[in-house]
Amino acid sequence: MAVSLGLEDVFIKYTGLTFIDGNAGVLRYRGYDINDLVQNTGFEEVCYLMTNGELPNSQQLAEFKKSVKEHYKLPDHVMELISDLPREADTLTMMETAFASLSSGDYQWNKENDRKQVPKILGENLGIISNIYRHKMGMGLQNPEPKYDYAEAFLRNCFGNADEKKISAMNAALVIYVDHEVPASTTAALVASSTLSDMYSCITAATAALKGPLHGGAAEAAYKQLLDIGNVDNVENWFKTNILDGKRRLMGFGHRVYRTYDPRMKIFKKLATTLEQTDEQKKLFEIAVKLEELGVKEFGGKGIYPNTDYYSGIVFNEIGFPIYMFTTLFGFSRVLGWLSHITEYVEEEERLIRPRAVYTGPDKRDFVKMQDRK
Ligand code: CMC
Repeated sequence: MAVSLGLEDVFIKYTGLTFIDGNAGVLRYRGYDINDLVQNTGFEEVCYLMTNGELPNSQQLAEFKKSVKEHYKLPDHVMELISDLPREADTLTMMETAFASLSSGDYQWNKENDRKQVPKILGENLGIISNIYRHKMGMGLQNPEPKYDYAEAFLRNCFGNADEKKISAMNAALVIYVDHEVPASTTAALVASSTLSDMYSCITAATAALKGPLHGGAAEAAYKQLLDIGNVDNVENWFKTNILDGKRRLMGFGHRVYRTYDPRMKIFKKLATTLEQTDEQKKLFEIAVKLEELGVKEFGGKGIYPNTDYYSGIVFNEIGFPIYMFTTLFGFSRVLGWLSHITEYVEEEERLIRPRAVYTGPDKRDFVKMQDRK
């Protein structure tokens, strides 16, 4: 019996959310090209689009923003929980813990009502992720200010200020990471939702799957490569030693669906140069460009190209975030994608996800009592 390892080419749901053409390098949310959305919208507009199916008019957008802002304030027990965690803990572990604790409320899954929870969860998400950063930095925890929109409120709660360029880059990063059909984390959320678990627990399951370096953790791993290379003159030597001879994977390269450039990577690459760069950031960007050239030359023929995580770390760092926040910033945005997919699944499919495994263990054998075992 054939097993599809990694569930490659297995279709697990119908979706009206996200379309990917992996050969042409196209990504659309509800029919709109990712480039158009990044250039013309903000995060809340895309949240409305994903949740309601259409772009909002100005009144709908204002109401949606208001309903998100009403929930910027986190329950006290979540604030206390975050501040009680060891500061050296992984930020994704903090995110899992905070979302798991929200499922301790009286919330019950209700397919007529679940979509209405989205603004509330997005508001809470802002409080969680900005306070994870504050806690890591040893600052006291505080609720984001509801007078600001999402990206600005987030940056202000992290850094105390925010300029237009950084707000715009943060908005772009949030829009880029919103959704990508059914990668490992979204699939984990769907498996949990198919049992009619609650929405917070689904986010917790998804966050656990996002953590690894083959998925969300790739931005950190890709950035660490650049630090390891250290100097643009060392790129060729590093590539030969580690990737060609060392047979290591080039992080931030390759994708299960794309066989060409990931369109999100191109946006991040451009964004990296629109933000102000320190000398160190300029150097890392140069290294990344040179490494990209070598990687594409070596692997392009096999359909392995840079993915979204290749330049995103550089952009996050230019906005002001340290490496340990990169994967969590991916999750910060992807919460919306997870929520969109689980609500879509439960409303339209509602079937328990329960695959099978092909048994390859021993045939039936007689039980051996403890005293008779060797
Ligand atoms: N560097 C070198 N070789 C690679 C790479 C890479 N980054 N990615 C795939 N390959 C090779 C792999 O060695 C294998 O070669 P061969 O057939 O000769 O054994 C072939 O390509 C197929 O690899 P695979 O692991 O079967 O392919 P996959 O579809 O399971 O892997 C992937 C997808 C993303 C896990 C993989 O490309 C990878 O490990 N990339 C590095 C990590 C990374 O950047 N992840 C971020 C993904 S995009 C954002 C996200 O979804 O989170």
